[in-house]
Amino acid sequence: MTGPITIQNRKISIVDLGSHYQTIKDEVEKVVLEVLASGHYVLGKNVLEFENELANYLKCKHVISCANGTDAISLALMALDIKPDDEIITVSHSFFATSEAIALVGAKPVFVDIREDDFNIDPSKIESLINKKTKAILPVHLYGQGCEISSVIEIAKRHGLYVIEDTAQALGAQFQGKYLGTFGDIGTISFFPTKNLGAFGDGGAICTNNDVFAEKLKQLRVHGSSKRYIHEYIGLNSRLDEIQAAILRVGLKYLDKWNSQREAAAKYYNELLKDIELIILPAVKPNCRHVFHQYTIRTKRRDYLYEKLREKGIETIIYYPVPIHLQKAFKYLKYKEGSLPITEKLCNEILSLPMYPEIKKEIQEYIAENIKLIFKKQ
Ligand SMILES: Cc1ncc(COP(=O)(O)O)c(C=O)c1O
Repeated sequence: MTGPITIQNRKISIVDLGSHYQTIKDEVEKVVLEVLASGHYVLGKNVLEFENELANYLKCKHVISCANGTDAISLALMALDIKPDDEIITVSHSFFATSEAIALVGAKPVFVDIREDDFNIDPSKIESLINKKTKAILPVHLYGQGCEISSVIEIAKRHGLYVIEDTAQALGAQFQGKYLGTFGDIGTISFFPTKNLGAFGDGGAICTNNDVFAEKLKQLRVHGSSKRYIHEYIGLNSRLDEIQAAILRVGLKYLDKWNSQREAAAKYYNELLKDIELIILPAVKPNCRHVFHQYTIRTKRRDYLYEKLREKGIETIIYYPVPIHLQKAFKYLKYKEGSLPITEKLCNEILSLPMYPEIKKEIQEYIAENIKLIFKKQ
């Protein structure tokens, strides 16, 4: 017998890119067809316009687009002339790409522990890691909320270090009314489809207020070249294509609305989950606009909750189950278990719930009811 699909027999996924697409379908299809007909597919009008529009949005002097958020970090490090044996202070609680990009330019990631309240770099632990080889601090604004960026900038200034902000997960987030990514020397952004501003493929960008870095970055993304077949630097082939740029121009108009929808969904989760003792809800810190790329709760019963929700058809994700300093790929750095206690503790407690601008209240209610039931049976 067929009947209306009820929420109980539907699979609830962590994001719903299909329903997101429906919200901009007509505009996207129009601009994609225009690009196809234009005959210009790489570094054309849409890329230039998108870079200008994003720079205006961020109130930042330059935006240089590139192929993805990982290249954005590599290009930033190359623009700052980071060399093999230089040390970059960063966090282990992030997507692998943050440290991978450091290693790709031959430099050494030096990991600093995070804070329990915002999952971000703990500025009080940075200075003991600084030595003659240290060239930059690379904080990540994880899950959509900025780290304590003013403390990071202050430490960097005192020690003559660069700051690169990995803003892949926090486009539109602010501290004291200023956009994250624009505090340090360079900010890096990802437009992976699930990001707050997602392309329909890969994409990335770098923002900076520094004219010299901007000029160098424009060359580095095209094989270190400013004139055809003349190469000043060893660079990358890392360009945003016209189709993605045209789609991102459409999306940028809605970014603030989508981020507000995420904030409203986070508030609703807070309301629904506030009385469950076994759960710690994500905190929004003073003077911060948290754009909830992820809604990440903490619980000591994380694996149990994850498994029981999965049985109910509710997808949740652990971002990230193995911290970067304990990944096999970074074994050569010789970090031992226990070297970053907060990072390692939180890896066992975090769980991200379904979060996207179009998430329906009834879906959030269903998730919350199930969490309540699961913990009641304990
Ligand atoms: C914190 C962080 N940094 C960097 C990246 C890399 O971005 P991309 O996937 O566009 O290369 C991501 C993407 O997931 C990310 O979440």
